[in-house]
Amino acid sequence: MRRIAVLASGSGTNAQRLIEHFALHASAQVVLVGCDQPEAGVLQRAWDHNVPSYLFNGRELREGTVLSELKGQRIDLVVLAGFMRLIPAEMVRAFSGRMVNIHPSLLPKHGGKGMFGHHVHEAVIAAGEVESGITIHLVTEHYDEGRILFQARCPVLPNDTPAMLAERVHALEHAHYPHIVEQLVKPAAKQG
Ligand code: GAR
Repeated sequence: MRRIAVLASGSGTNAQRLIEHFALHASAQVVLVGCDQPEAGVLQRAWDHNVPSYLFNGRELREGTVLSELKGQRIDLVVLAGFMRLIPAEMVRAFSGRMVNIHPSLLPKHGGKGMFGHHVHEAVIAAGEVESGITIHLVTEHYDEGRILFQARCPVLPNDTPAMLAERVHALEHAHYPHIVEQLVKPAAKQG
């Protein structure tokens, strides 16, 4: 059984979709929800779904305590789902090719430091974009970089508010993220 940890800082709707998708899965399960915000909604969602949660602070992330916890729990894949902190280089190396992030725009547009949640949708609308979407990518020690694994698009409509666009983008995230994560945990095909 592949062991997935989801890291999140906010409401956790994507985390919940991942938990539900893998709840009865034959080869993978969300075994841990890591969170850096004591008030985050994701903690309640984890509790409601009987998934253990792990609350930590920025210093513990930077100093390797979080990495030790993930290793101690024999985590195979780390899935960022609205996690707002930069991942330290040591943790990126430890989970090289085994840590993914989702971003609510078509990267490389509208990514980088400070670009999260509603800030992204505000920037997309302010730039006059006619389409937006989601990007799922491998994680590096820089915000919103790393090899792109998947993108999906949606229109930006003329009278969209950031909240309306966020809803459309969230629907795309919920539809696709669990399936892309599933591809990453599929056992490698046997050689020969
Ligand atoms: C999602 O839209 C995700 O793409 C975004 O935060 C939201 C979390 O929603 N992530 C970023 O902006 C990362 N730069 P959720 O808490 O409901 O899953």
